[in-house]
Amino acid sequence: MSNSKYTKGNQEKGLTPITSQWMHDVMEHPGVVNELFAKYGSPLNILNPASFTQNCKKFKEVFERNNVKSGIFYARKANKAKAFVKQAFEDNIGVDTASERELLQSLQLGGDGDHLVLTSAIKTNKQIEIAIQNNVPIVLDNDDECILVNDLAEKHNKKAIVAFRISGFHVDGNKLYSRFGFDIDEIEDYLINKVGEDKAYSNLNAVGLHFHLDGYSTHQRSEALLQCIKLIQNLKEHDFSLRFIDMGGGILINYLKHKDEWLDFDERLKQSLKDEISPVTFNKNGLGYRFEDGKIKGERKTYPYFNEIHSDKFLNEVLQYQDQNSDSVASLLQKENVEIRIEPGRSLVNQSGITMAKVVHRKKDAKGQCLIGLEMNMSQMMSSSADFMLDPYVMYADLDEDQTENDSVDVYFTGAYCLERDVLLKRKVSLPKLPEIGDVVVFVNTAGYMMHFFETQAHLFELAPNLVYTEKSNSVELSNFYLDED
Ligand SMILES: Cc1ncc(COP(=O)(O)O)c(C=O)c1O
Repeated sequence: MSNSKYTKGNQEKGLTPITSQWMHDVMEHPGVVNELFAKYGSPLNILNPASFTQNCKKFKEVFERNNVKSGIFYARKANKAKAFVKQAFEDNIGVDTASERELLQSLQLGGDGDHLVLTSAIKTNKQIEIAIQNNVPIVLDNDDECILVNDLAEKHNKKAIVAFRISGFHVDGNKLYSRFGFDIDEIEDYLINKVGEDKAYSNLNAVGLHFHLDGYSTHQRSEALLQCIKLIQNLKEHDFSLRFIDMGGGILINYLKHKDEWLDFDERLKQSLKDEISPVTFNKNGLGYRFEDGKIKGERKTYPYFNEIHSDKFLNEVLQYQDQNSDSVASLLQKENVEIRIEPGRSLVNQSGITMAKVVHRKKDAKGQCLIGLEMNMSQMMSSSADFMLDPYVMYADLDEDQTENDSVDVYFTGAYCLERDVLLKRKVSLPKLPEIGDVVVFVNTAGYMMHFFETQAHLFELAPNLVYTEKSNSVELSNFYLDED
């Protein structure tokens, strides 16, 4: 008799992910999961818009508590699914679009000028014209864009609604570099001289300021907001009435349950590079660290997976920050009657997705490392940083309660691309026993940038299907899942 069970990898010395009940509900139903694989193939992305709504609610509560006018625009670059765009509109928030297709599709799904923003890094005539015709605010990055948007607005006999992206903020004696936006030291003169009635760009209706900072510092965001508020005050004297500041995304999330595991892994990674313990990563990958001249050098190049200040707390910290006069950012926004907008991507799809793949083969490489070949490829779950550092789950068709030490095995999961580096997680994963062909590996919390951002169709592999999971009372059946395209 088969004794199916799912288990987290690395029961000891792991990086235990925060998970949601819906993920466990799915994993507790191997019959349904196998039917999904039979119907749609491997790998599968499962999306849960209900988690999106919970994240959204938390941000709304922070804004309410701080008594500020606010707008939330979901940065849909984090995940391409329509389901989250639909959910955003249902939750009465907006969507940040960064390409022609993102914009067009969001309009088709019910978005309008009040619920959309265009922030693309490269703006084509077509994108701009669609935005102008639909009164979607365009976030301008440079003078060439201003000229183009102004001309196209004139052609359509409309005013283009625009905000100006700013960078180069001064924080703790340093100027924050970004390749994006107008320099904070130049934008005031630029706007006064060029934008508005009787000026070169008379078809631009300036309504707001925008920035998006690299990194995850609340301090830098608060300082940038203070500088934007000051700019709005100065511009008021020149007949500008800018009504919002959009602080972009970059709101940290917390992926991991335990701080000590996070700190401990860092230590063990360094020890393994020094050969003090056996390797903890594939081919002793340092994830950014290197061992040279008897010393560990460099820094770990991964997302900060463990964070005490994250999500709503992160946003609250930005708003509660006080300037030299002890005025908080929130109180200054209120005083100036300026709306604060955010464009969260990763933090809105936190806990909203998983990626599952079937085991195809098991083998030992020449170094004795155990490789588990999965029916998926590296582009279908790829981090922009050195590794995705959450322990995966394995759904075994057969796993006894009394598995012994001798059955346990250390593995690496490998993918279908013809590249040596198609190793899905660089971290070693300890399992209670070797998975069988057809068992299922589940990577949790992959909705934000992991499942879609880097996906490619090399070897003509199909892109992974995206299935939306709708929770129903106490049951997981095939009918809980539908294709995102529907
Ligand atoms: C302009 C802009 N807004 C929002 C975001 C979303 O950031 P995150 O997913 O970190 O919240 C990005 C990410 O690159 C961005 O460039």
